[in-house]
Amino acid sequence: MINEWTALVTGGSSGIGAAIAQQLAAAGCQLVVLGRDAERLEALARRTGAATLVADLLSPEGLSQAADTAAGVDLLVNSAGCGWAGDLAAMAEPDIDALVALNLLAPLRLARAALPGMRERGRGHLVFVSSIATVGVGGEAVYAATKAGLRAFAASVRHEVAEQGIGVTTLLPGAVRTPFFDHRGAPYDRRFPRQVASTQVASALLEGIERGAAEVFVPRWLTVPARLQGAVPELFHRLAAHFG
Ligand SMILES: NC(=O)c1ccc[n+]([C@@H]2O[C@H](COP(=O)([O-])OP(=O)(O)OC[C@H]3O[C@@H](n4cnc5c(N)ncnc54)[C@H](OP(=O)(O)O)[C@@H]3O)[C@@H](O)[C@H]2O)c1
Repeated sequence: MINEWTALVTGGSSGIGAAIAQQLAAAGCQLVVLGRDAERLEALARRTGAATLVADLLSPEGLSQAADTAAGVDLLVNSAGCGWAGDLAAMAEPDIDALVALNLLAPLRLARAALPGMRERGRGHLVFVSSIATVGVGGEAVYAATKAGLRAFAASVRHEVAEQGIGVTTLLPGAVRTPFFDHRGAPYDRRFPRQVASTQVASALLEGIERGAAEVFVPRWLTVPARLQGAVPELFHRLAAHFG
């Protein structure tokens, strides 16, 4: 299936998006990789044969170019995103707006742009890179809210397209070894979950797409705290406060 697809991977210039792009290319997928860094995109394109789209998803032009591309692909992987860590009261308002625009609004817009073509062709798949932060993480309130919004959006769209040959998968990684923490300006300082490789995340996602999974947690044991938080939130938050 994947070997017959065309795909757009946002955030393909780094980290998780780059690993997903490499594995999709290896599986035979025709790719467009999107990011702001032309050099890193070109380097990936040389390794994978992907086409590149240099676009800033925070600009109306960039978002519109991305939407035009999304309209023609079978697989849309929304991986572009960034973090923000610190005290909510110290977060500047433009930083809140930018985080919501990149992590939440852009994937919503791109999914909306991709769906009509997928419906017409009777096939397609949407991927949203969310995070285990959806369970609630102190110091990452706005980030967690964007990722929880994405998860709810994906679950809702999945209901809408269930009978149309279109799949929807939400990827919920724990901590992944990528430049994400440098980019947000705060190192990863938790004892667990331990950081995993972006290649492990990409393999789990590809396997999840193939079997039509609604949600893919990486590492897989993170399914347990996520389910616990859903079933008994008070107990979960007491444990989270105790174990950090
Ligand atoms: N790393 C983790 O521990 C972790 C855990 C859970 C979820 N996630 C999520 O995984 C996704 C990928 O993160 P990562 O770890 O791969 O981080 P990363 O290595 O920093 O990659 C972020 C990607 O987003 C792109 N991007 C950032 N701002 C953009 C903008 N304004 N317009 C277009 N592209 C933009 C970057 O492109 P350029 O560099 O070319 O600008 C880069 O390709 C994010 O959504 C993140 O929230 C990460």
